[in-house]
Amino acid sequence: MNPLPFVVSISNRKGGTGKTTTAVNLAVEFAQRDYQVLLIDLDTQGHAAVGLDVNCPRGAPTAQDMFVQPDFALVCAIVPTLVSGLHFVPADQNFEHGGGPKDLLVLRRQIEAPAIAEHYDIIVIDTPPSLDILLMNAMAAANGILIPMLPHHLSGEGVRQLSRLFFRIGSSINPHLQLLGLLPVMLERGVECHQSVLDNISLQYGRQRLLRGIRTDIRLAEAFAARKPIQLYSPRSRGSLDYYVLAEDLLLMWQDIRGIRPQRP
Ligand SMILES: Nc1ncnc2c1ncn2[C@@H]1O[C@H](COP(=O)(O)OP(=O)(O)OP(=O)(O)O)[C@@H](O)[C@H]1O
Ligand SMILES: [Mg+2]
Repeated sequence: MNPLPFVVSISNRKGGTGKTTTAVNLAVEFAQRDYQVLLIDLDTQGHAAVGLDVNCPRGAPTAQDMFVQPDFALVCAIVPTLVSGLHFVPADQNFEHGGGPKDLLVLRRQIEAPAIAEHYDIIVIDTPPSLDILLMNAMAAANGILIPMLPHHLSGEGVRQLSRLFFRIGSSINPHLQLLGLLPVMLERGVECHQSVLDNISLQYGRQRLLRGIRTDIRLAEAFAARKPIQLYSPRSRGSLDYYVLAEDLLLMWQDIRGIRPQRP
C-alpha cells in the first residue's frame, strides 16, 4: 500500500507572490514524473482553475463545500485536468468567509479518507493570501509548507506573519509540519536589492531554507493567460526550467524527511 500522500501547502500572507503559478506548475512537474497528484484550490479567487483550463459549472462541488456541509466527501469535487496524472479540486468563488465552524482539521480528515489517501502520492494546496480558516486548514493538513515570496524589502512582514502561524500550528495540532523553504519568485540575479533581500532571508531562516528560486519570465504570465501550465505552453522557457529544478529539489528534500521519495504507483 502507498504511504500517506505528501501534502504541500503553497502559502504566503501577501498577495501576488506567485503562489498559484507555483502550485499549478509544481503539480504538473510531479504529475510528469508519474506521481498521482491532486491539486486543491483553497483560494476562493479560483485562479488555479484558470491556469489548468478547468471550467467549473455553476453548482458543481468545490473544496469549500467541506467547510459547510458536514457529510460532504471531498472526493466528489475532484475533476480531471489536461495533464495525465493530475486531478484538481476547484474553489468556490461565492464562498462566504467568516461563517461556519472554526474546525482546523476539516481538510486533514478529508485527505486522510481512503478514497484520497490511497490514490494520491502528492497533494498540492493553493492557499489564499490571508491568515484565515482556509489557510489554517491547509497548514493543519500539510507535511510541508512552501513560501513563494518576491525578493523585495517589503516582503519580510508577510513572511514573518506566516512564520508565526507556522510555529503556532506546528507546536499544537500539526507537529509534523516542516518549513520546506522560501522560494524567491520573479527573481533577477543581477539586481542588487534582490541579492540583499536573499542575504537577509539566509541570515534569518538559514541558508538551507532558501530555495533556488524562479526567475522573472513573461512566459509564465503568458501561459496563465493561455490557460496552460508552462510545461505545455513553453517547455524550453526559463520558467519551465526553474519549476523543473524546484520539483527535483523538493523531491530530494522529501526523501530526507521520509527516508524515501513519495512512492510511485
Ligand atoms: N516568475 C514569474 N515571472 C513573471 N511573472 C510571474 C512569475 N510568477 C508569477 N507571475 C505573474 O505574477 C502574477 C501573480 O502571480 P500568482 O497569481 O501566481 O500570485 P499569487 O500569490 O497566487 O496571487 P494571489 O495572492 O492573488 O493569489 C500573475 O500574473 C503571474 O502570471
Ligand atoms: Mg493565487
